[in-house]
Amino acid sequence: MKPNLLLSLLTAGCIISACASQPPNETAVKDIFGDRFTIGTAVTVNQTNGDDPIGQQAIIRHFNSIVAENCMKCEKIHPEKDSYNWQPADEFVEFGVKNNMEIIGHCLIWHSQCAPWFLVNEKGDYVSADTLRQRMKDHIYAVAGRYKGKIKGWDVVNEAIMEDGSYRKSPFYEILGEEFIPLAFQYAHEADPDAELYLNDYSMAEKGKRETYVRLIKQLKERGLRIDGIGMQSHVGLDYPDLTEYEKSLKAFAAAGVNVMVTELDLTALPAPVGGANISDTAEYNDSLNPYKDGLPVDMDAKWNSRMKSLMDIYLRNADAITRVTAWGVCDGDSWRNGWPVPGRTDYPLFLDRNHEMKPFLIELDKELNNNEG
Ligand code: G3I
Repeated sequence: MKPNLLLSLLTAGCIISACASQPPNETAVKDIFGDRFTIGTAVTVNQTNGDDPIGQQAIIRHFNSIVAENCMKCEKIHPEKDSYNWQPADEFVEFGVKNNMEIIGHCLIWHSQCAPWFLVNEKGDYVSADTLRQRMKDHIYAVAGRYKGKIKGWDVVNEAIMEDGSYRKSPFYEILGEEFIPLAFQYAHEADPDAELYLNDYSMAEKGKRETYVRLIKQLKERGLRIDGIGMQSHVGLDYPDLTEYEKSLKAFAAAGVNVMVTELDLTALPAPVGGANISDTAEYNDSLNPYKDGLPVDMDAKWNSRMKSLMDIYLRNADAITRVTAWGVCDGDSWRNGWPVPGRTDYPLFLDRNHEMKPFLIELDKELNNNEG
């Protein structure tokens, strides 16, 4: 066969199969929601550096906001006292700038995934309050300063409050007390005065977290510190949280005078032996905890889509308060949920399936909001 003929047949075949899996008029996820709020995804290093080209294309097609899943965390970007690993974060930011996306920084101060050197001295004891203040300042100035003008907003402090509303007894709290939060906000604002600044946490439907975060917003504002938003991570399940409580928190944060963002949305379809999203709370694998290795049965798929639709309905009716809805990953195969809290499972938590195709709740929303039959 002539090479040109072979090429034409292959091209035609590609077009036909692309058409079969993705109709040319299929709306992108971001288009379904129009200008109600931006639609984000957490991205991996492989997606921004091009090692996962299919994932990269899906990001460009479907999302208008990105957040780094891991590469801006302290242990990754600042592994040693005097050494920063800028390359993955630089690539992430360049990718967002090139594709004209809203870029979110995650995260400046977090007890988990903090570089081992950050909180201790040579003997392994906690550093003094003065030293920690200086280290926080240096870290925030370096990281937020490097991307000044390019980052829309930073998760300044991540996961600082417990379900009952008390402060997490993290090393930051043990060394500096409650003051570590206002300090982090002060340094972040000094480093990048135009960036929005957020508090971010999971299990935000809990009354305790709700009340403490409302108080915190007021305290920061009273001190003249900038706070723009609360991130409700939203690592949720089919039967948790109670959606009435969840919406109550959303409204309470908005009423306290900040934007609300859904920052890490994923909905597990699997049995959940552990709630929340604390990476160190794990459970042992057994087969009964991994029931859908070969795909979601029809009834479970319907249940999952209906639950996701209920969440979306909450976001749509509170669209005035919400500025962004971000999924914690691009497609099901990318999700951390496949490995947490039980390692080695097959989960279905995101907007796009393992072939990067939109889930039915999105098609339904497109019909409802845009009269689009897909
Ligand atoms: O990059 C290393 C690699 O070099 C090494 O070979 C491999 C071996 O384990 O580990 C790799 O790092 C892993 C990293 O993800 C990147 O894949 C870490 O072990 C693993 O702990 C890390 O998990 C991340 C977790 O946060 C902890 O940082 C998840 O991907 C990420 O989805 C998750 O995200 C958090 C949010 O930041 C905060 N809210 C909760 C959310 C879910 O836990």
